[in-house]
Amino acid sequence: METDLKTLILSAGAAATATAAGVLAEGGLVAFPTETVYGLGADAGNAAAIARLYEAKGRPAFNPLIAHVADLAAARRIALFDGQALRLAEAFWPGPLTLVLPKALSCPVAELATAGLDTVAIRVPAHKVARDIIRAFGGAVVAPSANISGHVSPTTADHVNGDLAGRIDLIIDGGPVEVGVESTIVGCFSDPVLLRPGGLTRADIELVLGHPLQSAPAEAEGDGGQPIAPGMLASHYAPRTPVRLNASDVHVGEALLAFGRAKVARAECASVVMNLSESGDLAEAAANLFGYLRTLDKRNADAIAVMPIPDDGLGEAINDRLRRAAVGRDQA
Ligand code: TXA
Ligand code: MG
Repeated sequence: METDLKTLILSAGAAATATAAGVLAEGGLVAFPTETVYGLGADAGNAAAIARLYEAKGRPAFNPLIAHVADLAAARRIALFDGQALRLAEAFWPGPLTLVLPKALSCPVAELATAGLDTVAIRVPAHKVARDIIRAFGGAVVAPSANISGHVSPTTADHVNGDLAGRIDLIIDGGPVEVGVESTIVGCFSDPVLLRPGGLTRADIELVLGHPLQSAPAEAEGDGGQPIAPGMLASHYAPRTPVRLNASDVHVGEALLAFGRAKVARAECASVVMNLSESGDLAEAAANLFGYLRTLDKRNADAIAVMPIPDDGLGEAINDRLRRAAVGRDQA
């Protein structure tokens, strides 16, 4: 692919928003911050732009994209909402929730973006920069996380630049993101299913539904071998360095990814230590997760030992990403 493109980086603001909307309208690729992670946006109705997007990310074409829209009214032009889907949208949009829904009859999202499925993933992001760009563009913007496929998701403009410079047209720098893990994905079929844990907790969703949320099996496959949520592919978030989970000790030459104030045996053996949250705050840990994994991955450690992290609240999403990181990229 073309890698000698000049990638422009602009600080978020009115001028950057107008430039971003113009680049999208011309079929270009624009990375911008959302509250969860940075996204790589393209015009949802422009198949050629979407083809370039898959190429820039090196993403398998069977992995469909999320359409980002300004509000529920725009979402209802794209997908069909039943009562439960409406309740979730009204409770959590704008915010870190993606709904997978049946496509509306005249769904304007290109087939390439939904990978030929008869469902479409939609979300209304809460980040001001993302919202301004979508409104200025005036249509749906498909945006996967703005990283090379298989790398951890970017939480700063710098991460995006490191992965995609020379491959995309524009990066809007809005500073580090707030949430740090991707949106929670819920499939709204007859019974809502948790397809990907993320920045909105299962407990919050169950409170609104009034009943427990089903979980999709980790490597769920739909009809015809299509993954139900292809992002559930085990190796999706793997750094190069092997990851060792639930570490209660440190081996010589390992990096340590710590959590809270608990101690591990032989901590002095660690070549480097980063603590996701000294105070044991899962929201702080989520915000730090991908950035710390990237930093530790650069230290040429034998492995990254990760201390146990509680599985409640945002811990479910954090542990999900860590398990994927531990599977290893060469098993993709
Ligand atoms: O927080 C987020 O969701 C970020 C920001 C940029 O919005 N986006 C993001 O996109 O994480 P991406 O492409 O990295 O992950 C989208 C996930 C993939 O796992 C994909 O398989 C799943 O959504 N997905 C998209 N359309 C789907 C569909 N129709 N059915 C099931 N899963 C779908
Ligand atoms: Mg991604």
